[in-house]
Amino acid sequence: MIHKELETALNAQINQELTAAYNYLGMSTHFDNENLDGFSKWMLMQHEEEKVHAMKLLHYLQDRGGKVSLNAIPAPNSDFGEPLAVFQRALETEVQNTKSINALYELALKLNDHATVSHLQWFLDEQVEEEKSIEDIIALLDRIGDESAGLLYLDDKLGSRSAPEDVE
Ligand code: FEO
Repeated sequence: MIHKELETALNAQINQELTAAYNYLGMSTHFDNENLDGFSKWMLMQHEEEKVHAMKLLHYLQDRGGKVSLNAIPAPNSDFGEPLAVFQRALETEVQNTKSINALYELALKLNDHATVSHLQWFLDEQVEEEKSIEDIIALLDRIGDESAGLLYLDDKLGSRSAPEDVE
């Protein structure tokens, strides 16, 4: 049976992953409206990935005999700017998520819950990848500036992102 404090923190993290998923869906629809189909596809894949994260935590909590509490998911932002600003916001989301995974990890350590520590290791590694991929895109967008040829090239490149593997 999992510690109550950890159960609460895992439920909060499930909500955070689903909130991120919803935000990325908002970004995807924004890019679709802007006719940037590759950017839209990339964000849709990111949305799918966050759902996988949420489900991975949800199944883990169930496996440990915890109670899943599904709470409200806030509406995504809709005041989007240029692609660079959207990706900067995505990076903020990931940095925040890394912080909360770290806090969860520390709580599991404090409570001597080694199974949860082990489970969260995957998320820590995943966050490194997530932050890096978004930082790389931000760096490219920075270089592209107002150059539409560069933007279209990146749009094409991001459109080739494939769906995440279902890790469960
Ligand atoms: Fe689920 Fe983007 O971290």
